[in-house]
Amino acid sequence: MIIGSNILFFENLPSTNTHTSFLLKNSTVTEGTIVFTNYQLAGRGQMGNQWESEDGKNLLISIVLFPSMINPADQFTISMTISLGICDFLKRYISLSKIKWPNDIYVNNDKIAGLLIESSLMGNSIESTIAGIGLNINQEKFLSEAPNPVSLKMIKGRNFDLTTCLHQLASDLDTRYKQLKKRNTDQIKKEYISQLFRLNEWHEYRDVNGTFTGRIRSVSDYGRLQIEIRSGKMCEYSFKEVDFIL
Ligand code: BTN
Repeated sequence: MIIGSNILFFENLPSTNTHTSFLLKNSTVTEGTIVFTNYQLAGRGQMGNQWESEDGKNLLISIVLFPSMINPADQFTISMTISLGICDFLKRYISLSKIKWPNDIYVNNDKIAGLLIESSLMGNSIESTIAGIGLNINQEKFLSEAPNPVSLKMIKGRNFDLTTCLHQLASDLDTRYKQLKKRNTDQIKKEYISQLFRLNEWHEYRDVNGTFTGRIRSVSDYGRLQIEIRSGKMCEYSFKEVDFIL
């Protein structure tokens, strides 16, 4: 086992990603170490947003990875791998979860988990990666502006044991990470694309030119989203260049 071989628990932290980065700079941390907390005072989301999570209700973790087998240009494969691991965990309880490109995890039209993946590069290789995961488990009320949060409890109507969930998630992520270590990236990419939220369905999107109708067809090797528009033309977007209209 790599992921979950070492679990460091903290009652609270500013942010598990920030603390993991501190540990990496100031101590020796083994690959697969999970930093886990009950509460974040300054939990960080994508695009400088905050990540809301009630004390002791959800999984707030950061995983230390040393993915030296991945070229920095291909680092989106790490994102795909972690997203698939979270979906594998959710499959234990829910029949369908989807990946909203690039790496939000959705159940129906609601967001159950988010990822904040931060890598540091040295020359032409990835020195370390911190994979931060916020997975909503037992929270029932969300107070922030986030449009569509959901938790396992809201879906299943019962409480889940956080420690059990943590070990199951670690095991599912570990299986996926071993797939990545074996450079099984074609399979990872194939599965990631097949689990994309709104794949092959016509929906509304917004880019710099305004709102348009399109359907997601695939993701490029560099992680860019490929959306076909009505004329048949294929458009490619990097993160933040296109919004899903939900
Ligand atoms: C998103 O905006 O969707 C990403 C959310 C990521 C939140 C997790 S919670 C654990 C880890 N520590 C952080 O500060 N953020 C990530």
